[in-house]
Amino acid sequence: MADLNETARALVAPGKGILAADESTGTITKRFDSIGVESTEENRRTYRDLLFTTNGAADHISGVILYDETIRQSSTDGTPFPKLLEQQGIIPGIKVDLGAKPLAKATGETITEGLDGLRGRLEEYRELGARFAKWRAVITIDGDHIPSEYCLWTNAHALARYAALCQEAGLVPIVEPEVLMDGGHTIERSFEVTSRTLHAVFTELRDQRVEFEDMLLKPNMVLSGYECSEQASDQQIAELTLKCFRRHVPAAVPGIVFLSGGQSDEDATARLNTINAMGPHPWEVSFSYGRALQAPALKAWAGDSAGVAAGQEAYLHRAKMNGLARSGSYSPEMEEKVAA
Ligand code: 13P
Repeated sequence: MADLNETARALVAPGKGILAADESTGTITKRFDSIGVESTEENRRTYRDLLFTTNGAADHISGVILYDETIRQSSTDGTPFPKLLEQQGIIPGIKVDLGAKPLAKATGETITEGLDGLRGRLEEYRELGARFAKWRAVITIDGDHIPSEYCLWTNAHALARYAALCQEAGLVPIVEPEVLMDGGHTIERSFEVTSRTLHAVFTELRDQRVEFEDMLLKPNMVLSGYECSEQASDQQIAELTLKCFRRHVPAAVPGIVFLSGGQSDEDATARLNTINAMGPHPWEVSFSYGRALQAPALKAWAGDSAGVAAGQEAYLHRAKMNGLARSGSYSPEMEEKVAA
């Protein structure tokens, strides 16, 4: 069986991070709607092929998270996507949760489903080439009473059950408890809720015998809500994020890979850079971005074969910028040089 710690460490290798390309059919359809492209299976394949055949991406991208449909698809030359990635030294991974559904007796809160039959699905994904997995729990902030402790602990329990099954199956679990940025809450409230969330998650992981060395954490940064009138600076974000994670994430965890969660692509890069510039930290601090790596590429491609080269260039640029943010070596001026 593959050494899980070795895989986890390879995913957070210096200068590299993860591309989250595991949008469910519903989510990728929303992204395609924004550029006026029909969400057919072939269009979804063509778009993922653009990303996965980008020359040079492997210099900055350690792993790619795939979706159930995508892990079974192939590049235009017939090479299955997991194999195509592996040939470039990029580790294939797979989203295994089945989405957030309403939590019983908790209006406005969700529980992520997908545990039934998971052991069998993990075995199949491993055969298809996956070496790591992802499960996303969604935590909403609303007023003083949401999230409830009930919601936090129920999601933490499910995350730990998933993580234990992954380790048993020889896959590195990426444990993703996402506290959403949606709403008018302050950064202090985000700090408080993210702290409670991580407390529940690491308690459950420990109780369910998950090896911290053999997993990665994929959290939100501690941020002001989108609609909060007072937006925290990058420096405040970095300080509160690190304060929260130092208190709650054991040093045995090899890496923290942030989600972008709706931050602009350049904000997501700048904040990761600020956090790393304040290092060294007990864990590698990296990225597992979806929108913040793909938004400019999606726009440049626009569903047109004539846009493939521009789409690849845009993706490579964001991968490179985030790669630099891994060591605090990014600066916003680097964006303009490429744009010029
Ligand atoms: P975003 O970076 O777009 O938030 O996506 C990351 C992800 O995988 C969410 O589950």
